Amino acid sequence: MKLCIMGTGYVGLVTGTCFANLGNEVICVSGDEDKINLLKRGKIPIYEPGLDELIEKNVKENRLFFNTDSEKSIQKSEIIFICKGTPSQPNGQVNLRYVEDAAIEIGRAINDYKIVVNKSTVPIGSGDWVSMIINDEQEKLNKKVPFDVVSCPEFLREGSAIYDVFFTDRIVIGSSSKRAIETMKKLYKPITNQTFETDLSPRPKNKVPLVVTDLTSAEMIKYAANSFLATKISFINEIASICEKVGADVTKVADGIGLDKRIGREFLNAGLGWGGSCFPKDLSAISQIAAEYGLSTQIINAVVQANKQQRSNIIKKAQELLKILKGKTIGVLGISFKPNTDDTRYAPAITIINNLIKLGARVKVYDPIVKNRPVDLSEKALFCKDAYDVADNSHLLILATEWDEFIKLDFKRIKKSMTNGLIIDGRNVLDKKKLENLGFKYVGIGR
Ligand code: UGA
Repeated sequence: MKLCIMGTGYVGLVTGTCFANLGNEVICVSGDEDKINLLKRGKIPIYEPGLDELIEKNVKENRLFFNTDSEKSIQKSEIIFICKGTPSQPNGQVNLRYVEDAAIEIGRAINDYKIVVNKSTVPIGSGDWVSMIINDEQEKLNKKVPFDVVSCPEFLREGSAIYDVFFTDRIVIGSSSKRAIETMKKLYKPITNQTFETDLSPRPKNKVPLVVTDLTSAEMIKYAANSFLATKISFINEIASICEKVGADVTKVADGIGLDKRIGREFLNAGLGWGGSCFPKDLSAISQIAAEYGLSTQIINAVVQANKQQRSNIIKKAQELLKILKGKTIGVLGISFKPNTDDTRYAPAITIINNLIKLGARVKVYDPIVKNRPVDLSEKALFCKDAYDVADNSHLLILATEWDEFIKLDFKRIKKSMTNGLIIDGRNVLDKKKLENLGFKYVGIGR
């Protein structure tokens, strides 16, 4: 099929590239000329494992194109995907400007029947709003070309985005148009039937279920999914705090409850709390949406509050270990909000580093991918060349992001170079026994 992808962020680039790899002809559009030129040269503006190779392959094989001309790209395509960013505004509401701009461009360019698919996470009811904008633009130009709007939320995670698209747990298609639903089913058939060839592993055996709903329910599924996942994490972090007091190990508790199919083990890893560009924004948006109807989201508010608390719990742990933070050197391993991404939005590491600096500590940091100082990271954070450099002369080491290279470090060497052998494993990924045998004082989360 011929597809146009509006937006070249994480979701746009990954969606476009994966559909191209399945044999579709895909044009990814952005108004940002520099970015498009970069993409044409095979350079990608984000760090996502495997994405550059897949882009290069599909560009070479003439299935994936990049363009700034939205009009021509829309007109050539049967399906238009809106994959625009929907950042939070300071009041927690969603900024829909970029989605609105895309809808205006579609309304102006539309020349024959199109399916407009919304992949951006948008407030409930945005599908109808997109239809209204397209119709308004058409009216201004005296045309009435038919189109259908579909909500097809995206569930990929940064860091494993390609795998998540090909082996998603489900596809959700929300629309009132039979024609649009049938076309979307056809587009997704290689994924739902798992008929495509791939080297990605492990390859799940199951086919992928497809859920067809009305537009509003599909929009709601996305918010409910992210809110529930964040709830699982905040829940296990609360259990972790109790574990610490009573002397239990939260990793074992998570294994024990996770085997219950009704609960499930995933997203029960206690740690510094959740961050990223999705959970914080989506939880704040769902709570705003509820407020518009006079509802208060008590569970979601508590989940957000518990997550804030989790970040300050780490500072408390550092204070317990070092007593006075002023004049101490603390090494922080990892800045990104999770491994395998360069995304630092709402990263727990940043809040923690900034607070340690406020309390007078000297903080050394290193991340395998984040090399430039994120705007919200204190100027005083000292960037180091590697994890050993961070550890050198530090009183305390905090593992903030579970990058694989941190798990494989030579801790014997680290212990020798540190002033004190104190370590906070903020993601419960290090071998506690091994570190204790090396003479470290190890503090995990809920262990
Ligand atoms: C999340 C959802 O998992 C995706 O399904 C969704 O498509 C995406 O948001 C989105 O809305 O676009 P993402 O934010 O990329 O994906 O990353 P996650 O893997 O969900 O991690 C989010 C945060 O939770 C990270 O800070 C991570 O460290 C933390 N986390 C995750 C935990 O603390 N414990 C866990 O057990 C799992």
